[in-house]
Amino acid sequence: MSHNGIDSEHARTALVVVAHHRADSLTAHLARRTVAQLEREGYTVDLLDLRAEGFDARMNTEDQPDWGNREKRYSEETEAHMRRILAADIVIAVFPVYWLHLPALLKGWIDRVWNYGFAYGRSKPRLAGKRMLWLGLAGAAADDVIVEVMQQTLEGSLNLGIAYYCGFSHSAVGLLPDAEERRQRLDANGQLLFDPVTAGAEREAQYSALEAKAEAFVTEFLAADQVPA
Ligand SMILES: Cc1cc2nc3c(=O)[nH]c(=O)nc-3n(C[C@H](O)[C@H](O)[C@H](O)COP(=O)(O)O)c2cc1C
Repeated sequence: MSHNGIDSEHARTALVVVAHHRADSLTAHLARRTVAQLEREGYTVDLLDLRAEGFDARMNTEDQPDWGNREKRYSEETEAHMRRILAADIVIAVFPVYWLHLPALLKGWIDRVWNYGFAYGRSKPRLAGKRMLWLGLAGAAADDVIVEVMQQTLEGSLNLGIAYYCGFSHSAVGLLPDAEERRQRLDANGQLLFDPVTAGAEREAQYSALEAKAEAFVTEFLAADQVPA
């Protein structure tokens, strides 16, 4: 028995998907912290860094669904990604919010890999029972009114439009605003305003708060797993 009550014979597995073009990004940093947190909780973690692995986000003919054949064999790359999802009890995606949505890199992974016959289109979904956490970093200031809109937009699209559509038993969006060193907000005229660049102790405090918030989202997400269905 591990300290979190999970029987070691049934060790949980997690797929952590990071979607950023820079390894030194805040996104990648929070993804690495998430991996460490999961490992402390007894999870075996598969870290999928889409950019580092050279994932091509563009749809192609091989991976285009064939609506007449849900047994279609997709490209080797896509089939390998499908196996990694199947091996995971939980999936956590860590990404920067772009235009109130997923960045193209992550969106392309969903488009190509969460495909017909695999992720949806069966009476008994293959992904049934899995759980998903979407950790999105956003440049908007936490008190910007857009944050509430962003939360609702992401919940509708990611929880309902993608995860529950694909049979996941639980999906949550953890939104992390204030992710920029210059906080951004819109004024009443739609003008984009930037706060001064944060530095020194203020920046340390900003990043520590983001780390703590990300960790709390993961803790809450894992705790929900312990609640019997
Ligand atoms: C193309 C693009 C679109 C963006 N769209 C949004 C947005 O809709 N809302 C928001 O709050 N921030 C937006 N941002 C800011 C990013 O969310 C922010 O730069 C990122 O989360 C910071 O994390 P990073 O340092 O790991 O890139 C956008 C940034 C880019 C480059």
